[in-house]
Amino acid sequence: MRLLIAALLCSALFVRSATLLLGAPLLQKAAKVAKPQINPLQNDPGASIAGEKLFARECSGCHGEGGKGRGRPHTPVLATDLVRRANPGALFWILRNGSSSHRMPSFSHLPEEQRWQIITFLQNRGLRSMKE
Ligand code: HEC
Repeated sequence: MRLLIAALLCSALFVRSATLLLGAPLLQKAAKVAKPQINPLQNDPGASIAGEKLFARECSGCHGEGGKGRGRPHTPVLATDLVRRANPGALFWILRNGSSSHRMPSFSHLPEEQRWQIITFLQNRGLRSMKE
């Protein structure tokens, strides 16, 4: 019996660390449940600049400056191809719902326009700063 419990604990730990290593569980979930959407501000340079400021205020405390990490421990880096290529609808879904663990809060209190501005920054501007 003890052995069984130990085995179960080990496999639970393995799954947990695999999720941490592989990252992006929330984005994967969102991609499955969210309906695909077009970002209405996707080619708007002004939106990207506004989104950068909003990101610094609302998100960088956890995700690090520009989403490059070193904010709160165990918070995913957002300056990744995965985030850049994600369907904007999935990112919008995450900003509305947050994560079920509540470690990622909901940002439904922000006006929709500001949420799209942040997504524009993450998907356009983020690309440029990664290449620099
Ligand atoms: C209080 C800390 C915190 C703040 C503030 C925060 N996040 Fe998060 N975010 C997290 C955590 C923790 C996760 C991982 C949650 C999970 O996987 O269950 C996450 C996950 C995400 C993901 C999914 C990434 C992936 O690879 O799965 C995106 C996108 C995201 N956050 C965007 C944002 C944006 C944009 C903002 C600002 C509007 C923001 N977050 C603010 C903590 C935070």
